[in-house]
Amino acid sequence: MDRAARLLVHGAGGRIGQLLLPLVLADPRWQLVAALVRRESALTGQPVAGSTLRYSTDWPASVDAVDVVVDFALPAAFDALLDQVQQRGCALVSGTTGLSDDQRKRLRECAQHAPLLWASNFSLGAAVLAELVRRATELLPESFDVAVFESHHSGKRDAPSGTALTLAAAAARDPAHVPSICSLRAGQIVGEHEVYFAGPAERIELVHRAADRSVFARGALSAARWLMGRGPGEYQVRDVVLHR
Ligand SMILES: NC(=O)c1ccc[n+]([C@@H]2O[C@H](COP(=O)([O-])OP(=O)(O)OC[C@H]3O[C@@H](n4cnc5c(N)ncnc54)[C@H](OP(=O)(O)O)[C@@H]3O)[C@@H](O)[C@H]2O)c1
Repeated sequence: MDRAARLLVHGAGGRIGQLLLPLVLADPRWQLVAALVRRESALTGQPVAGSTLRYSTDWPASVDAVDVVVDFALPAAFDALLDQVQQRGCALVSGTTGLSDDQRKRLRECAQHAPLLWASNFSLGAAVLAELVRRATELLPESFDVAVFESHHSGKRDAPSGTALTLAAAAARDPAHVPSICSLRAGQIVGEHEVYFAGPAERIELVHRAADRSVFARGALSAARWLMGRGPGEYQVRDVVLHR
């Protein structure tokens, strides 16, 4: 693409949305075209710092005004978001967790017409952790018990975390034997995931700790960059890691 790609942030008022905006504005490869918030948000109509835009609830009028949407909002906003993506055929990078089975199904359907990448965790380290869990599951005998632990800040609404579900799926030998997940919500914990492989007289512990939420915002923007120019399909953060 020989011009800046036009990017819309959905959920711009949230913790991750607020980290995304300055990163987008500082990168000349992106042109921020809209910062969307909830209608009831106190930010509606306020200027976006460092830009001429204002926080808005309205999508750009022209259907082809957006190349890629980066979404970190809530499941309640997801259906309307997919309506827009479907209508516009733009790319979508979404980190919104707690989606329903129907929403996941719709996401897959939408991917027939647009390049989409949903991930429960956009940090590079968490993607590598999932690969290590897959490998450990292949190597270890079935006699090893597997357990997943996740800890997050008390403001996180969904439990277990999307990342814990991804890790449990990575460690499942078959759909009937998905490892159990323990969730903790406390204080300001950004995000910690541990996977135990416990054998008769030994234990492997694989751990990932996110120290700062900006890791998710940076990872989502790398994924959005990677998605530019790709055809319709449902991509995974794993594709970004393995095909950098
Ligand atoms: N995949 C990852 O790497 C990753 C990492 C961290 C978080 N997450 C997930 O990403 C999501 C957001 O996380 P967060 O920590 O930023 O949460 P947050 O601070 O609660 O932000 C969510 C934002 O979405 C906004 N929102 C709700 N409905 C909307 C709509 N219709 N249009 C536009 N914005 C809308 C909310 O607006 P109000 O403020 O007005 O309610 C809020 O600002 C959560 O699902 C979280 O679990 C994913």
